[in-house]
Amino acid sequence: MSGIIFFKTQKLEELKDFYLNQIGCELWLNQKDCLIFRHHNFLFGFCRREEVKNRAMLTFFYESRDEVDKLHDRLKDISMSVPAVNEKYHIYHFFAHDPEERVVEFQYFDHRVTSYMTGDRLLLTRRSFRHFENTEIPESLLRQVLELSRFAPTARNSQPYYFKFIKDRELLMWLSKTREKSTQPIGNAPTAVVIGADPAISRRYIQDGCIAAYHFILAAWFYGLGTCWIAAMDRDDIKDRLHIPRDNYIATITPLGFPVKPAKTAPERKPLEGFIRE
Ligand SMILES: Cc1cc2nc3c(=O)[nH]c(=O)nc-3n(C[C@H](O)[C@H](O)[C@H](O)COP(=O)(O)O)c2cc1C
Repeated sequence: MSGIIFFKTQKLEELKDFYLNQIGCELWLNQKDCLIFRHHNFLFGFCRREEVKNRAMLTFFYESRDEVDKLHDRLKDISMSVPAVNEKYHIYHFFAHDPEERVVEFQYFDHRVTSYMTGDRLLLTRRSFRHFENTEIPESLLRQVLELSRFAPTARNSQPYYFKFIKDRELLMWLSKTREKSTQPIGNAPTAVVIGADPAISRRYIQDGCIAAYHFILAAWFYGLGTCWIAAMDRDDIKDRLHIPRDNYIATITPLGFPVKPAKTAPERKPLEGFIRE
């Protein structure tokens, strides 16, 4: 389920320019006299009508104060205030007017909020994180991540994968030194997660394990938790130390925690054509 909030307007074209070009929304659906815009998971529409009432306010929120400041620089001429902290709601925000004098708010939540990410943002903003806050991950949040993770596809739905959580600092430090710089991120996290797979359960245990690991990585990011795929952990000394049977496959051991910084833009990717072969 989802929803849309609609407003009446007499200035459809000006609003289209404002919300598309100045705010950076996308046009989600064009119904000629009704335009529906999208800002991540926020769907709102304007319909051409004779009468307009502007009581409602639209609030756009962003992932950092920096983004709010940048928007304020762009909208200086129509801003009603400068970005400031609102202690009551623990937000950082400013207000502006759209072309029809409707109040529009731009804000950043100065505290964690429950996930609101859409699928496209999830895939676009997932990054490899290597530095984490020294904060315990609440058990309830971990359970939510695992609830999504268990919907990974597996060969014949055999489900041979499993998760093992490591919180012991000494063990985390040992793992972080097993492959020098490559494994270092494990030492910066409050938790590491082994994603393993059991060959006794599936013939395709390697593929099943890798897919489950990536599913976990996406589920974690949905809930704001950072990860980093660490490769080449399928080693006997690691299995022995973690009490994992030697014939099991370790897809990865990822650090897990709240990232210290918001997600960066992706390291450069090849253009689309570069991924297609004749
Ligand atoms: C198979 C695989 C192995 C990787 N191994 C490591 C690793 O050992 N250490 C590490 O810090 N990052 C590792 N990474 C993370 C990559 O460096 C990262 O995915 C890549 O630079 C792209 O950045 P992004 O994940 O932020 O988009 C690995 C990623 C994959 C998919």
